[in-house]
Amino acid sequence: MLTRTRWPYPRVVAHRAGGSVAPENTLVALRAAAGLGFAGVEIDARLAACGSAVLMHDATVDRTTDASGPIAEFTADDLRGLDAGVWFGNEYAGEHVPALDAAAVLCHATGLWTNIEIKADDGEEAEAGHVIAREVKRLWPDASPSPLLSSFSEEVLAAAMESVPDLPRALIVRQPPTDWREPVTRLKCRALHVDQQYVTEALIADVHAAGIAIAAYTVNSPGRALVLFEWGVDAVFTDELRDIRADFLTTHDIASPAAPTSTESDAG
Ligand code: G3P
Ligand code: MG
Repeated sequence: MLTRTRWPYPRVVAHRAGGSVAPENTLVALRAAAGLGFAGVEIDARLAACGSAVLMHDATVDRTTDASGPIAEFTADDLRGLDAGVWFGNEYAGEHVPALDAAAVLCHATGLWTNIEIKADDGEEAEAGHVIAREVKRLWPDASPSPLLSSFSEEVLAAAMESVPDLPRALIVRQPPTDWREPVTRLKCRALHVDQQYVTEALIADVHAAGIAIAAYTVNSPGRALVLFEWGVDAVFTDELRDIRADFLTTHDIASPAAPTSTESDAG
């Protein structure tokens, strides 16, 4: 039996894969994060019209591609044909909207641990949770540590738990509701991901007392990252990959956390 730590994942995580250094949720962003020494990335995944998972934050392609319209009107093949780089910079022209399977191949090749945030349009939460959880299990069958699924949607997480119960889950909230313990308990979440502005030392202690980890998004000030780590936050998601670097903890002499909290398998 292995000892399970509270957060067996990288503690500085590149938000939307490349943060502010590359067009979000693209393969070039994953390569940029790996090139800067990051060991972990957060990516956003949602269902395309064909029912397969692609990397995309928004419900429409307007902001991050050269096209417009709801993502529900594009198949994964259509999306591969869009330019997802030029909005960020001409040097990224020709970058496409990747399918989740292409991202998985690159994460395996670079050794990047992955937090897959599942996004869903209204009414498609359960389908997205079921389908993307199964896709993640198929694409990362033996990863250790396992990828982490997260979502703002309790319905997404409930579906993911039903389809692939052994994939670890995290509930994302902006300002934690007073009853945050109820959904994280019901959904057997391993972590609570909280908007960094609402993270306090007391909240960190309360979340740890509940037996789970807490991660803060999106932390773009090194000073704020330092405070959060000193308070004991388990991880931060950052866009500023050059200011809050992968080696932030060692350069700031921040101790490793987290005595083991259980003796369950480390696979989850
Ligand atoms: O997963 C944390 C963070 O990514 C949630 O916010 O809007 O950047 O997906 P958003
Ligand atoms: Mg996200």
